Amino acid sequence: MSAKTLPFAARHIGPRGEETKAMLAALGVPSLETLIAQAVPNSIRLDRALDLPPAASETEALAELRTAMSKNSVLKSFIGTGYHGVKLPPVIQRNLFENPAWYTAYTPYQSEISQGRLELLFHFQTLVTELTGLPVASASLLDEGSAVAEAVGIAWRHHRSRRNKLAIAGELHPQTRDVVVTRAEPLGIEVDGDTIDDDTFALIVPWADTYGVYGDHSALIADAKDKGAIVIMVADPLGLLLSETPAALGAEIAVGSMQRFGVPMGFGGPHAAYCAVSDKLTRLMPGRLVGQSTDAHGRPGYRLALQTREQHIRRDKATSNICTAQALLANMAAAFAIWHGPEGLAAIAEQVHDHAARFHAGLKAAGLSLAGDVIFDTVTASVPGKAQEIAAGAEAEGRLVRVIDADRVGVTFDETTTEDDLAALAALFGAKLPESAPRLAPATARGEGFLTQPDFHSHRSETEMMRFLRRLADKDLALDRAMIPLGSCTMKLNAAAEMMPVSWPEVGGLHPFAPPEHTAGYRRMIDDLDRWLSEITGFDAVSLQPNAGSQGEYAGLLAIRRYHAERGEADRDICLIPSSAHGTNPASASMAGMRVVVVRCTDDGNIDQDDLKAKAEEHADKLAALMLTYPSTHGVFEEGVRDMCAVIHEHGGQVYFDGANLNAMVGLARPGDLGADVCHLNLHKTFCIPHGGGGPGVGPIGVKAHLKPFVPGHVALGSSSAVAAAPYGSASILPITWMYIRMMGGDGLKRATEMAILNANYIAHSLKDHYPVLYKGRNDRVAHECILDTRVFKDRAGVTVDDIAKRLIDYGFHAPTMSFPVAGTLMVEPTESEPKSEVDRFCQAMISIAEEAAKVEKGEWPKDDNPLANAPHTAMELMGDAWTHPYSRSEAAFPEGSLASASKYWPPVSRVDNVSGDRNLVCACPPIEALAS
Ligand SMILES: Cc1ncc(COP(=O)(O)O)c(C=O)c1O
Repeated sequence: MSAKTLPFAARHIGPRGEETKAMLAALGVPSLETLIAQAVPNSIRLDRALDLPPAASETEALAELRTAMSKNSVLKSFIGTGYHGVKLPPVIQRNLFENPAWYTAYTPYQSEISQGRLELLFHFQTLVTELTGLPVASASLLDEGSAVAEAVGIAWRHHRSRRNKLAIAGELHPQTRDVVVTRAEPLGIEVDGDTIDDDTFALIVPWADTYGVYGDHSALIADAKDKGAIVIMVADPLGLLLSETPAALGAEIAVGSMQRFGVPMGFGGPHAAYCAVSDKLTRLMPGRLVGQSTDAHGRPGYRLALQTREQHIRRDKATSNICTAQALLANMAAAFAIWHGPEGLAAIAEQVHDHAARFHAGLKAAGLSLAGDVIFDTVTASVPGKAQEIAAGAEAEGRLVRVIDADRVGVTFDETTTEDDLAALAALFGAKLPESAPRLAPATARGEGFLTQPDFHSHRSETEMMRFLRRLADKDLALDRAMIPLGSCTMKLNAAAEMMPVSWPEVGGLHPFAPPEHTAGYRRMIDDLDRWLSEITGFDAVSLQPNAGSQGEYAGLLAIRRYHAERGEADRDICLIPSSAHGTNPASASMAGMRVVVVRCTDDGNIDQDDLKAKAEEHADKLAALMLTYPSTHGVFEEGVRDMCAVIHEHGGQVYFDGANLNAMVGLARPGDLGADVCHLNLHKTFCIPHGGGGPGVGPIGVKAHLKPFVPGHVALGSSSAVAAAPYGSASILPITWMYIRMMGGDGLKRATEMAILNANYIAHSLKDHYPVLYKGRNDRVAHECILDTRVFKDRAGVTVDDIAKRLIDYGFHAPTMSFPVAGTLMVEPTESEPKSEVDRFCQAMISIAEEAAKVEKGEWPKDDNPLANAPHTAMELMGDAWTHPYSRSEAAFPEGSLASASKYWPPVSRVDNVSGDRNLVCACPPIEALAS
């Protein structure tokens, strides 16, 4: 008899059979079907099963994907163009990249439980400031193409959108130029050659250009500065080790990709882009910025700085729509630099350069005409009529070079290049390699003063590095320790079998512009995902290019914009957005050149349908779109969704669905059936890609047939209008979603949705006597999340939502989403993956906290000295000789309800002071000389 193991769905879903029964009994319903019928309006229900392949086991799915991926041919790449072969240090691969303590962490909004990843991101920022010479660097952007576009946005906003011309010196990589042009068009920015005049707000300088040449742009840079234009350098960070800094060359913004700092190419991503700016541009910088502040006891503590720049506060006036970025990849790049140190990085750069210089000399001696004399890693040769023949010769020997056109070939070297590679490639050009060659780099190595901060010098042995990464991970609370009940963020299980393919060489090793016949495995997986996600969402096609939810929003709105323009209605530019929408919605609309009109919500949190109708009528001539989050950000299935879509269509608009909450719908209802024309999904929520401490993400869009011609294209696919640098965005993490869907099957996915709704309703029910639950839907049920109103405690006892969030840390929990979408509340989303025991532990903690607040209210504890006001409590404080508080040490550290937890989480800092950190902004470690002075 063969052994019978549980199907994967039963491993993914937390509550077991008996637990499910107990939860249903607590809710007073006889079955899950009854609960779902109560919670989900019949009018939106899908009346059939999803048409997906039946669930496969972990072993079967892994074998199937491996067979598909083995159809990829991973040749050694010399294509360059922004993507390079790397040696991922095994110590980083195992202890960071493949370590759930790192990849299952959430964006560090709760700083006290995020000190480890914040510290490493701080090192990333320090590294970037050292490389670029600019004082402030952010904690990552999405990719090089969109980072350049973001830099253009900084310069444009700096000039308050009064100047409209963008100049470019020399040639950018084609994909970068395409993303910049895509993003410039809706804002009315003219991309205008390399002439500067008084209407020019920025000059982009590629450092090096797409042919690998470091041109002399000093005159143009001087002209730009003279006329007040901001100079943006797009700089290869490894090349910067052998170059003057962008700051020294006149740049006020530097951007680029950190991919070659130890992150595999992965068929295009994910990788971290970097962005550094001069002081005066700090507050215009997109994305997240880690700053150093102090905690309640004056010790250093990191936290996200200048949050007031971001879209959740500034809405359509935000500096950018970037929310999820590339934290995990930025941390890998920082770890790579820490592991090698400045001398190791310089050695890698020198070796790469030596290979390029010798290759250059060899080809020159053979009489070839080459692009430029100042190069770092790339040789571009003129080979009239022979480019394809040379590329074919290289390919026959297992190497890929770049065919620029029929007459030019580019060869880019990286840290994996060997002498054999050099000799074989030179032979294809009829050249021989010299033993040595004169240097061609823009400058000599940085020398003594570069990267002197102690952390870049202290972790050279594997023992030290392993312990360094462990020490940082131990400071953090990730999903591998406890439930992370973040509403709107869907912190569900990221199963090991889903993660394993990301490490396969046939997944990580491919260049995004490898010939199509080499990428058959990827394309098969992408085709599957296109079909499966179309079926799940009810759309006709899916684009996987956007590499975050925000980018999906932007791509979807651009598709709508182009659709209207194609029909001769280019002046449709009003985007209706409910007041409850996530901040990325208005920020994306504004980037897509739309004017935002806010639609009111009713007191019970639903969209005010009368207001929607009135605004649609008022703006009928100009109506472009409605952005609708479904189920709502209040966690409710709004009944009138079809009517709302119909109103928009009647007035000539298109309906954009924000699908971040799709975890409440999969298998039960489909956005495409409800009237949506386009919808983004967050694969890093509903479809199991881990959050990585703030990214990576994937935000594909599903579209109806009429919008299909307007989804993002890509130069590598013979089209344009890309929103990301690579044709399939963050392709190497798509296997995670493929594995999830393949192992769950249609029934498993539907069951997961139902259990997510059960867990959320069980929490709402368990806590209803202690916290008012805001915004219920039909039959008093919530969808997959619920909002707990903590404002009553503020009124009665002076206990704030912050106090409750920080006190949860003492109980071993990451706080739920705080003050979104309603200030002073907590939005709780347990997901289907949490077992009943963990959900009960959370409810018990919340009840104990309510009781603690009651003691403050009754005056048993003073308002300014109680376990809530002082939370979280560190071990150092608890072990100190003095204890002056009116509650005991054990009440502080082991409050009731936390003891069931197997392991106590000790926060490394007490409450971090955000305000003082923003007032005295410190975003990078000072060099050692500054510490000494
Ligand atoms: C409702 C909603 N929309 C959009 C987004 C943006 O997604 P991303 O962070 O991937 O850009 C989020 C992210 O939290 C969200 O909750």
